[in-house]
Amino acid sequence: MPEIRRSFVNLLLVLAALPFACAPAATSALQTPQPAAATLATPTDAAATRVATETPASGLPVATEPAASAAAPLAQAPAVGVDQPSPASSVEFSGLHAKLHVDVLAREIGSRPAGSDAQGRAQQYVLGQLRALGYEAQLQPFPIAYYDDRGSALTIGGAFGRELGTSTLIYSPGGVVEGELVDAGLGRIGDFSPDAVRGKIALVGRGAIRFSEKVESVAAAGALAAIIYNNQPGNFAGNLATIASIPAVGLSEEEGQTLAQTVRRESVTARLSVDAGLEQRTAANVVATKHSGAQSVVIGGHLDSVPGTPGANDNASGTAVMLELARVLAARPTPYTLRFVAFDAEEIGLLGSAFMVGEMGEPERSATRAMINLDMVGVGDAPRLGGSDELTRVAFPIAASLGEEARPLGDSLNGASDHASFLRVGIPALFLYRSEDPNYHSPADRAELVHPAHLEYAGRLALGVLDALGGPR
Ligand code: BES
Ligand code: ZN
Repeated sequence: MPEIRRSFVNLLLVLAALPFACAPAATSALQTPQPAAATLATPTDAAATRVATETPASGLPVATEPAASAAAPLAQAPAVGVDQPSPASSVEFSGLHAKLHVDVLAREIGSRPAGSDAQGRAQQYVLGQLRALGYEAQLQPFPIAYYDDRGSALTIGGAFGRELGTSTLIYSPGGVVEGELVDAGLGRIGDFSPDAVRGKIALVGRGAIRFSEKVESVAAAGALAAIIYNNQPGNFAGNLATIASIPAVGLSEEEGQTLAQTVRRESVTARLSVDAGLEQRTAANVVATKHSGAQSVVIGGHLDSVPGTPGANDNASGTAVMLELARVLAARPTPYTLRFVAFDAEEIGLLGSAFMVGEMGEPERSATRAMINLDMVGVGDAPRLGGSDELTRVAFPIAASLGEEARPLGDSLNGASDHASFLRVGIPALFLYRSEDPNYHSPADRAELVHPAHLEYAGRLALGVLDALGGPR
């Protein structure tokens, strides 16, 4: 973003914070937001590769249990000034305003995998915004296993000799192997003879079964490494869900097919090197609190994205709605203590939300009246609602009153986002999203595809649900 537009966005965001910041009781209000937007890295060129959804479903990355000891406890912040707010009507939820946050997070900062520098910048941005609204906000850190892909290379020997561009499959172990290439079909039992792949590098076509199943089936037969070639033009980015037993990379359909045909005719040797591995890094939720009563409501969405995608709908959209709700609710009296949360490490197993509920004692859990999760709320035709029966019963009529009927969540998504961590410990939770996003987990999940009107719908729905909850019971 050019400097002028960037400052304009910052100015808008600061101005937007003013109604609350100027309220008499907002003593610590209008801190200058962290200059995150001014120090943002140039967005990385959107990779030509697609983050693949495996057949039949995308694999789930490793979910490591965070070690509780490394966590700084979330400080109990003093109440933000809410006693003499501006009239409620003066601060309305604005989808356009929320969209500005999507632009900063997805366009300026870009892909935000948990543990990455970009995610650190995104957290500083969210922290700065919440503090500028007068909230006591802080990071809630926790350790994660971060998969660091430092690149892979495939060198083909003999007459075919050259270097081919590969993409490391996430959770491939690092290593260098040399051997003959062998065609292993689609990698299913029966597609290849175990004797033929033992001690060789298996060339496997994409499709029919998961990447991890292909890799493990050739590994069980003694293959040294697996190269999976695409079943559509170009290369792809894939995920093995857990650390595989042999190095594994992706290759383009064109190069894969040429190689497969060649190795059926003649012997071809290759050298594959994968420079990658797991390292412990620190992830963090961003948490802001508005104290108002003994019972609380958590409003959150995840800020992290999968690698290789700007994560605009998934889930700068939900984070942006959370931030805009924080702006609107700062100026309104609320019967509940509110916690605004940008979760980290959702994409590697709901780790941030799991950590947060793990840190809550039983009294705090039972005093949490509801959790509202916003994940993928900016793209798609059909608003969807999931979670606790009691909360969805409240939410469906509110959705209809906004002019767009919501549909129930497909069962397969019950555990797909951070509300699941709250439900698991008995906290009522509501999941708001919109289906279908054709660019889910792909480099095409870009800011310009996010609709301000959809963000506004999600925000108004969340506000309606909060109102309908009334006071503590
Ligand atoms: N935002 C998605 C979940 C989602 C997908 C919501 C489609 C609405 C429509 C979330 O970030 C995600 O990708 N979740 C993983 C599971 C998680 C436990 C790693 C998934 O669904 O594969
Ligand atoms: Zn998501």
